[in-house]
Amino acid sequence: VSSPPEEAPIPYVALKAQFEEERDELMPRIERVLASGTWIGGEPVEAFEREVAAFLETEHAIALASGTDALVLGLRALGIGPGDEVITPPNSFIASTAAILHVGATPVFADVRDDQLIDPAKVSRAITPRTKAIMPVHLSGRVCDMDVLCAIARERKLLVIEDAAQAVGSRYHGRRAGTIGDVGCFSAHPLKNLNAAGDAGFLTTNDPKIAERVRWLRAHGLVDRNTAVEWGIVSRLDPIQAEILRFRLQALPTVIGRRRIHAARYRELLRDLPIFMPPEPENQLHTYHTFVIQAEKRDELRAFLASKKIETAIHYPIPIHLQPAAKALGHGPGSFPNAERQAERIVSLPVHQYLGLDGVERVAGTIAEFYR
Ligand SMILES: Cc1ncc(COP(=O)(O)O)c(C=O)c1O
Repeated sequence: VSSPPEEAPIPYVALKAQFEEERDELMPRIERVLASGTWIGGEPVEAFEREVAAFLETEHAIALASGTDALVLGLRALGIGPGDEVITPPNSFIASTAAILHVGATPVFADVRDDQLIDPAKVSRAITPRTKAIMPVHLSGRVCDMDVLCAIARERKLLVIEDAAQAVGSRYHGRRAGTIGDVGCFSAHPLKNLNAAGDAGFLTTNDPKIAERVRWLRAHGLVDRNTAVEWGIVSRLDPIQAEILRFRLQALPTVIGRRRIHAARYRELLRDLPIFMPPEPENQLHTYHTFVIQAEKRDELRAFLASKKIETAIHYPIPIHLQPAAKALGHGPGSFPNAERQAERIVSLPVHQYLGLDGVERVAGTIAEFYR
């Protein structure tokens, strides 16, 4: 008697599969960059900036070394520094808050709604005479309530810096995420929907002055070969990564489309289980960088899925205000109850472009089995 066939593992990400699909077309492009002898800057970087700006329907894109740098340089280019407060959610990746601290400003948290996005009512309440900017985070690829946040910003004369690290290609009332506020900050980390083969990021803006300043801040503050107008850093995207990103940008609509198909199927299959899924947002294109459910007995559920070779993730298990590094900010448990409650319930299911509907059905079926 033969034992039943082993089920294949379902990984949370599938970067090797991505490379295998790309290898034949991508390798010659990488080789061309190496053969050119231009290993910093050059045409691939400029072409990526033009192409991603066109895709995002914005005037300027500046390629940088990471999404974190996009946040730091975006804040600096907006003139935010010591003495200024920036309002941001406590449930993002730590980089959002870290960037505010890196420019010498003070992060002020506003709790999130059931859908994990910053609550505009809480933002209003967090404003003080020192508030300079709001940094909404489009977590998961779902866009924050930008109409309300921008109205608050206009009325209180605040700047808006969008953390769109997880939302490349998302739309809000027709407009691309990251192009609605004063600057948009994107990550092209390997796990993002538009991913480099290493750290990478970019910043978008419609303001030529901000664009110019970020361009010099990313390269020592140099406006020409020998003249530094202010102290900058080194945060350049290298041309090999730029070439990879140009190639992958062409595939991005397909990647987003497949993720959306997977998410729609999850919604059908998980509807009657004791889990919460924020409803599909209205007037938006949600790009599903992650597919996050809020579940009872989350840790047991994850262990059960792992026992069936299904890998999941948590974005993020420790709210930023409860991180050891955040101690000096003076918050404790209970400061931001929604973010804290969600941190114990959220789990990100595989949703990547290679999962397939079979994969979705197996994951959803295993979750149903757990709750039975
Ligand atoms: C919401 C958010 N903000 C900022 C970042 C920082 O981007 P990076 O890792 O490219 O520095 C990330 C991703 O890691 C993120 O998910």
